[in-house]
Amino acid sequence: MLPDDRRLQAANPTGWFEDLYAEAEAGTASVPWDVPHPQPHLVEWAEGVDGTGRRALVVGCGYGRDAEFLASLGYDVTAFDISPTAVKAVQQRFPRSRVTYVVADLLDPPAEWHRAFDLVVENMTLQALPVALHAEAAGRVSSLTGSTLLVLAVARDEGPEPDGPPWPLTPAEVEAFAGDGLTSRSTRRDNGRWVAEFARQLAMN
Ligand SMILES: C[S@@+](CC[C@H](N)C(=O)[O-])C[C@H]1O[C@@H](n2cnc3c(N)ncnc32)[C@H](O)[C@@H]1O
Repeated sequence: MLPDDRRLQAANPTGWFEDLYAEAEAGTASVPWDVPHPQPHLVEWAEGVDGTGRRALVVGCGYGRDAEFLASLGYDVTAFDISPTAVKAVQQRFPRSRVTYVVADLLDPPAEWHRAFDLVVENMTLQALPVALHAEAAGRVSSLTGSTLLVLAVARDEGPEPDGPPWPLTPAEVEAFAGDGLTSRSTRRDNGRWVAEFARQLAMN
């Protein structure tokens, strides 16, 4: 990535995605995360899982690789991205998809999504945002989680901010998904990536 690209991305932290997807549609750029398979750590996590009768939400879904995978497990999937061009492109890629793809901003999500999903999958959205937005974005992700949250991200140690994007997550940034009734179930670092699961305690009446 050229230094000028990084400066533009830092100046427009959520807007540059739309520009990139639009350029990809025009054939003048390629999207680095456009790969034809779901995130391997998600596939590993989901082994033996039956999503029938459960709702899942995929944050920053891009071209829908994880959303389509979860739908194949039986989940009723909603997947969202801030880029209208990405959402249009994924709907064209999967015209018969069972997934509901919508344009939405993680930093201002629909009120009815609050704790509405049995499973929330956050794969590489936070790390695509500047460090200054990580805490707010993590809080939003957690607030959408009704039961289980899976966070997948590139890992880094605590220390000086990298010259992103991306801005990989530190141990403290992963821990920050916990709170407000959401607790850590497991966190591990595998091949330079976080695989972290959180669970919401159900209120006892
Ligand atoms: C690094 S890409 C990962 C895409 C996808 N999760 C994957 O693994 O293929 C980050 C995605 O998050 C989306 N995104 C960035 N900021 C967002 C926001 N505030 N709300 C919703 N989506 C956002 C971008 O448009 C992009 O599609």
